[in-house]
Amino acid sequence: MTLAGRHVLVTAGPTHEPIDPVRYLANRSSGKQGFAIAAALAALGARVTLVAGPVTLPTPEGVDRIDVETALEMAAAVEAALPVDVAAMVAAVADWRVEGSAQKIKKGGETPVLRLVENPDILATLARSAQRPTLLIGFAAETERVLEHASAKRERKAVDWIVANDVSGDVMGGAANTVHLITQTGVESWERMPKDAVASRLAERIAAALV
Ligand code: CTP
Repeated sequence: MTLAGRHVLVTAGPTHEPIDPVRYLANRSSGKQGFAIAAALAALGARVTLVAGPVTLPTPEGVDRIDVETALEMAAAVEAALPVDVAAMVAAVADWRVEGSAQKIKKGGETPVLRLVENPDILATLARSAQRPTLLIGFAAETERVLEHASAKRERKAVDWIVANDVSGDVMGGAANTVHLITQTGVESWERMPKDAVASRLAERIAAALV
């Protein structure tokens, strides 16, 4: 199975949303699963563009990496990477950004109240775009009713596949993952395995789907 001649986009990691010049909102995404997927796709011969949020992981071999911090920067980097044949949107994009302050917020006055503004949904925007990839894959991080929520997300965001993972345990930051692959034709539950193995299996499935 090969992905030679295919251009694949992967987003990975968290985003950081500044509160002021020295503080930010973040989440627990380590970027490990997304980086492993980028590596596995490159190993199958794909040209891989990896749009990475702030993580300290090394760039996988043969992968073009674009580092971003915020969801708005990630959205712009994704748009600039198009067209692609496949997109795997693994990043844990912050749903909200902060209506931030240009200067460091100082103590001593009133307790500050953060106002949040919704970020664009990068995956749903790509699903609706004129440059929609042939195969569009979203991830769903759920803590309860995993399959039900993830299936609903597949339809709502109009994507082809959803990789659902239960993040109620130690998945975020850990080395192993238990995922369910939800496609047009049904649900496959994979046994718990290292994130590298999830990545290889997904890359093989992507290659098979494009034949
Ligand atoms: N996603 C995205 N842009 C956003 C939010 C999410 O591209 N602003 C993508 C993620 O990369 C992932 C998928 O959407 O592929 C699902 O993300 P998730 O956080 O599970 O879903 P939400 O849409 O945020 O829904 P909820 O928080 O209500 O579960």
